[in-house]
Amino acid sequence: MYSDLTGKYCLVTGASSGIGREIALGLAKLGARVSMVGRDPLRGRAALEYVCKGSGNRSVELMLADLSSQGQIKALVNTFKLTNGGLHLLVNNAGIIIDKRQLSVDGIEMTFAVNYIAYFMLTNLLLDLLKHSAPARVVNLTSAIHRTVRLDFDNLQGEKKFNRDRVYAQSKLADIIFTNELARRLEGTGVTANSVCPGAVSSNLWTTSSKAIATFFRLLMKGPAQGAVLPLYVAASGDTAGATGQYFQTGQHLKWAKVKTGGSICKPSAQACDIETAKKLWQVSESLTGIACSI
Ligand SMILES: NC(=O)c1ccc[n+]([C@@H]2O[C@H](COP(=O)([O-])OP(=O)(O)OC[C@H]3O[C@@H](n4cnc5c(N)ncnc54)[C@H](OP(=O)(O)O)[C@@H]3O)[C@@H](O)[C@H]2O)c1
Repeated sequence: MYSDLTGKYCLVTGASSGIGREIALGLAKLGARVSMVGRDPLRGRAALEYVCKGSGNRSVELMLADLSSQGQIKALVNTFKLTNGGLHLLVNNAGIIIDKRQLSVDGIEMTFAVNYIAYFMLTNLLLDLLKHSAPARVVNLTSAIHRTVRLDFDNLQGEKKFNRDRVYAQSKLADIIFTNELARRLEGTGVTANSVCPGAVSSNLWTTSSKAIATFFRLLMKGPAQGAVLPLYVAASGDTAGATGQYFQTGQHLKWAKVKTGGSICKPSAQACDIETAKKLWQVSESLTGIACSI
């Protein structure tokens, strides 16, 4: 079912913990050359060792970048292009939920910067390499929580009113809207773009939540390895090779659920599919990143 990824170049963000680290491990086991992006050298090196040991694959590297910084995203892309001969799979996975409104070094609300703007920017800066390496895939991690909100362009960054869960949900809705628009723009290039909700997963994501929520996740929800099953299926299975502009979701959340591929194509919220919203978000994203997209 899974493709042999020997010699294929893969980049995974948020690979220092949780679902991203397990995605990196799964790809390394399939023989890929994996670039794991993390922001912290210690956590990054520990994750690198975990993936190398767990897979026996030595073609795995750690790349350091704080993805809330547009300067560091650009530097990451430059280094990646200098040291890697192609890009067959980009997994945008890094994500945060934070309690208080904070701004990135570029003056963008931090959740929006890491969970969405970094996806937009990294993908667009790597598009030439992805197209050159086609067939290639972009997989963006999102969440079913996107269904609880609408994208509010007047409060996109929680500037009027900050609510951590709404800001997080909006960033994940933006990920799907972006992925769908990207898929439309990439039609005929051999590069696919899909978004995936891994289900509820016990991970560091919930460490800033209330004690009750953190405990609930730790005791009941599936672990990161189970959480990586569906993203890996979308990223590396032959079954999903032709899929593009799709949203994959799983109904399996509990620890004791037997996760197989554990999910399927679902319809996201109505706004996630709205073409006018997608065009507007793309324009806003270009202006927040200074990127003039060529597609
Ligand atoms: N867990 C769930 O229930 C769930 C449900 C739906 C969707 N998701 C999505 O799945 C993805 C992975 O989440 P997870 O549950 O695996 O959480 P996690 O264990 O907290 O992992 C998040 C990863 O993102 C990295 N990261 C955070 N901020 C960063 C920054 N500024 N620059 C670079 N890297 C940064 C973290 O690095 P550090 O190790 O340095 O913190 C970590 O590697 C997220 O996009 C999340 O929205 C998760």
